[in-house]
Amino acid sequence: MPVLTRRTLLLTGAAAATAATLPRARADATGLAYPFSLPALPYATNANEPFIDAMTMEIHHGKHHAAYVTNLNAALKDYPQVAALGLPAMLAQLAQVPEGIRSAVRNNGGGHVNHSMFWQLMGGKGGEPSGPLADAVTRDFGSFAAMKEQFNKAGAGRFGSGWVMVVVDREGKLSLTSTPNQDTPIMDAKMVLFGNDVWEHAYYLKYQNRRADYLAAWWNVVDWGKIADRYDAAKKGALAL
Ligand SMILES: [Fe+2]
Repeated sequence: MPVLTRRTLLLTGAAAATAATLPRARADATGLAYPFSLPALPYATNANEPFIDAMTMEIHHGKHHAAYVTNLNAALKDYPQVAALGLPAMLAQLAQVPEGIRSAVRNNGGGHVNHSMFWQLMGGKGGEPSGPLADAVTRDFGSFAAMKEQFNKAGAGRFGSGWVMVVVDREGKLSLTSTPNQDTPIMDAKMVLFGNDVWEHAYYLKYQNRRADYLAAWWNVVDWGKIADRYDAAKKGALAL
């Protein structure tokens, strides 16, 4: 295995310049520093009912997300120099992660960071954003309704499993993207403002094959205050994940 250090990882490869600007994971309650841990839900498992049922939340968080954390820690057990990078830097430089653990880091590291983001921005009452975030939505998508329509279409059109996300740059410009499996825009040195999980495990108990219904219902539990906080943090380069 090549000798990897934070310095060589950060200074080598095409992603280095942008990856170096990403915040490093902190050893705090977010669970984003090795050994990684499952962050507690910031609300009760029934907080998003009737739109997302408690059992789906329990299994999604307590089983699926927990498995990503367990598998990520196991993959990194013998790679302390990689583990020490923290998740955002590790994911932004996947090509330089040793080949033997690269897929495990991609899938489980992506799963950990995506779900850690996802729990944060639910538990709200839906509605619409306000202030600078609302202005950015109108500027970059035409209207809030247009953004929802494009987002739902991209989520419904994601074949198999994946995510639909809105990414934000340091100038506050928004754009829509969709990723397969547990890939995250962080792998392309982009910042995620918010996103929805379109894996069947996110909705199948309540919605079965009706992903479009789940996508439409999900907006009712979005916490726009939390997303506005993420928007402000992104513009300061201080978004943790
Ligand atoms: Fe999920």
